[in-house]
Amino acid sequence: MEAHTRLIQFFSVLLLLFVFSDIFIYKSLAESVTPEEAKQLRDEVREMLYHAFDGYMNHAFPRDELKPLSCEGEDTLGGYALTLIDSLDTLALLGDRERFTSSVEWIGKNLRFDINKTVSVFETTIRILGGLLSAHLIASDYATGMRVPSYDDELLHLAEDLARRLLPAFDTPTGIPFGSVNLLHGVDEKESKITSTAGGGTLTLEFGVLSRLTNDPIFEQVTKNAVRGLWARRSKINLVGAHIDVFTGEWTQKDAGIGTSIDSFYEYLLKAYLLFGDEEYLFIFKEAYAAAMHYLYNDPWYVEVNMNSAALVWPLFNSLQAFWPGLQVLAGDIDPAIRTHTAFFSVWKRYGFTPEGFNLATLTVQHGQKSYPLRPELIESTYWLYKATRNPRYLDAGRDMLASLQYGARCTCGYCHISDVEFHTQEDHMESFFLAETVRLMLFNEIIFCDLPIWFSFMVRGLFLSQIALLK
Ligand SMILES: *[C@@H]1O[C@H](CO)[C@@H](O)[C@H](O)[C@H]1NC(C)=O
Repeated sequence: MEAHTRLIQFFSVLLLLFVFSDIFIYKSLAESVTPEEAKQLRDEVREMLYHAFDGYMNHAFPRDELKPLSCEGEDTLGGYALTLIDSLDTLALLGDRERFTSSVEWIGKNLRFDINKTVSVFETTIRILGGLLSAHLIASDYATGMRVPSYDDELLHLAEDLARRLLPAFDTPTGIPFGSVNLLHGVDEKESKITSTAGGGTLTLEFGVLSRLTNDPIFEQVTKNAVRGLWARRSKINLVGAHIDVFTGEWTQKDAGIGTSIDSFYEYLLKAYLLFGDEEYLFIFKEAYAAAMHYLYNDPWYVEVNMNSAALVWPLFNSLQAFWPGLQVLAGDIDPAIRTHTAFFSVWKRYGFTPEGFNLATLTVQHGQKSYPLRPELIESTYWLYKATRNPRYLDAGRDMLASLQYGARCTCGYCHISDVEFHTQEDHMESFFLAETVRLMLFNEIIFCDLPIWFSFMVRGLFLSQIALLK
């Protein structure tokens, strides 16, 4: 453990030298964003959003997602217009009343969940349930300026119907849900009993909001129970593993970390407290966060360790970890957030994108983890750090990331995944979260956008929901 730690520290110093020299060169070449440039950038992001959204509507809708190179659609989740549902609140934020209204009306008339499809509980919750609920709040609320006159709670009814179809997944001895459920038949007989920590711990916001909107506590209860089920099985040093058996409660993968398979467990603990004011979530978050900072933080990086012994497993930067500085801003822990963001962003600048895995011992892309599937995490952290510090370097970072997407990922009908960050190879996929999160976060940087009410800036969907709820 000690040796490994020192090794990492050594390489961190090397990489930081690289980072700072890089910033130095960059500063001397590029001016900071000026107000005029900010306007141009805002228009560019708008255009970008429409290129992707119209590409989806013209070539893929009502399939789930767009294949932006071949200009066709594909069903990746349940075959129910996933990208449109996930994009609804982005349309509202753009101020596009026409597209928002017609989309809400189409969904209210055409969407059905009584289909024989086995879907991921986690993905369905964050993308479909979250999309429906935020659009419901916007469409029914005069305060957003986006009220849809013909709207009669259709999206709320759909959300409730969908959530009831997910409920059978929670019927386990631990309260931690199965990873997947069939929307018509409940949990399949052969369904795996192993699920990820993020899969069981990233449901509280959407289900909690649904409980409050329907006055039925069941949704909030089952998801809170799932969090308790996970936390009850933490190690003696307050770490959680990556995968768990929902029947026995045994950890089947004991690597603790803040990236893959665990990430949003931490995120939803804090956001559930911020959204509902429920101190149980804050209490768990504080303990979990302190342990993460003690055992996983190797300033400025984060590593994966065995959840019981804290022995180092992987000295790896994993691109999903990049949400962490943003979460630290929400938690009020800005200094480590700044250092970690600088380190993570240095990886982005080196390749133009972050690879899924970057090896901290060799300082190279991790074999088999070369891709960048249009993820929003680093952009989200950049956004929050700008909000917290107003330091123009985060605007510059936003401009850089925008340029990367425009030059490297833009393709015929939308934006393409990058299958290899070293060669910028494009791949024929566009995840719905590109519109729901990645581009939207750019839109929300003031560089880009400032003519909406201030509370619109709480764009992370959970917080966004809470802000609207507060206005009611
Ligand atoms: C549901 O789908 C599965 C697999 O796609 C199929 O085997 C089964 O017969 C279907 N059941 C019903 C009731 O349609």
